Amino acid sequence: MKILVIGSGGREHALVWKLAQSPHVTQMWCAPGNAGIAQERLAKNTPPVECVAIGAEDLPKLLAFAQDKKIDLTVVGPDNPLALGIVDLFQAHGLRIWGVNKKAAQFESSKVFSQKFMEKYGIPTAAAGTFSDVVAAKKFTATLGGKCVVKADGLALGKGVLICTNQTEAEKAVDEIMVSKAFGAAGASVVIQEFLEGTEVSLHALCDGKVAKIFPTSQDHKRALDGDLGLNTGGMGTYSPTPFLTDAQLADVANKVLEPFMRGCVAEGIDYRGLLYPGVMLTKHGPKILEFNARFGDPETQVYLTRLENDLLELLAASVCGSLGSLELKWSPRASVCVVLASGGYPGNYAKGKPMLGLAEADALPSTKVFHAGTALKDGQVVTNGGRVLGVTALGKDLRAAQAAAYAAVDKICFEGMQFRRDIAAKAL
Ligand code: AMP
Ligand code: GLY
Repeated sequence: MKILVIGSGGREHALVWKLAQSPHVTQMWCAPGNAGIAQERLAKNTPPVECVAIGAEDLPKLLAFAQDKKIDLTVVGPDNPLALGIVDLFQAHGLRIWGVNKKAAQFESSKVFSQKFMEKYGIPTAAAGTFSDVVAAKKFTATLGGKCVVKADGLALGKGVLICTNQTEAEKAVDEIMVSKAFGAAGASVVIQEFLEGTEVSLHALCDGKVAKIFPTSQDHKRALDGDLGLNTGGMGTYSPTPFLTDAQLADVANKVLEPFMRGCVAEGIDYRGLLYPGVMLTKHGPKILEFNARFGDPETQVYLTRLENDLLELLAASVCGSLGSLELKWSPRASVCVVLASGGYPGNYAKGKPMLGLAEADALPSTKVFHAGTALKDGQVVTNGGRVLGVTALGKDLRAAQAAAYAAVDKICFEGMQFRRDIAAKAL
């Protein structure tokens, strides 16, 4: 089969790396890819994975490429092309593509849509209101004593979520989003949720329109600095499994969330085929959904795919065809830890083009994989090309061993300005 993967981050490198192991794959391209993806080889000893310079949001060019190469399955990594309707477009041209369609992508592209859906179908979530009127929004924050989270409705590059501790902050947040339009059109309406305390975990489930198969738990580290300090980022590291839910508790959460989710989708005429990634707060009153994402998490994918024992291509094909029910997800009992190495200054301004040392040495360590995110090739050398640069991922017999292995690999790598957290997985130990 000929495969096209869309995207250029660590998530996409993990997808490419795992798909390349499938004996069904005969040729693979990635648009636009990165320096690490360009170094992957197919298990079948056929040509290397080829990166093509087409942006993930350039739908007409991606379609033309897939038609020209007669791609058998396109796999979409990021949320933007999904929200733009890449799946609907490819399907309208008779091409097979994995990812959610435009209607299903609303779970991520509209927080108002998601919140209303959760309330309608009884999915446990924060007490919340949805507003397009500033006065009504401020009145509602007052009923929560100002301790709340104000969220711009639309996609805001992961930035449209403001956490408030009092009414003054809450009113300022409402003004910032709805009046000053700090996040543009994304802020025409807002979801305001009560502030929830607890432990946050990431859930992932692969869906085929009827069936949803839950993954083990993982946990992201969203803040830039150790101890969950500093600014919010795309994610500075992950690990899986987490000790916060037993298998029985995870099955219970799946039951309380995925069953009404899939039922609601059918009732609303939403054909949900792709990945569902709920962000969950484990509170003392039980698990509550904070938001839904409609794609694989980054860097969750790096720890999941290093633990996954199935052929990923078979799983994604079953998700597209509606035949997931007959498959069983198999996970390595080993733990996985991913430490993100970022450019100095990230998530603020940072320099690009810094040469990197030690990548091959780190990759050669046992049970270790260095996934590239923001990297590029310049004059034959791998250089930094983004905020999150690498996801150094290692397996171990338990979390402690995986953590030690991941940091041993980190120690081999250096580039100017390199920053990373030293406490990935520490909460679990
Ligand atoms: P979201 O994009 O909706 O997941 O929000 C981004 C981050 O804000 C989450 O990962 C949480 O850490 C935090 N957050 C969102 N909603 C809440 C809430 N209701 N209570 C506490 N923290 C929240
Ligand atoms: N891990 C955060 C995200 O993928 O949105």
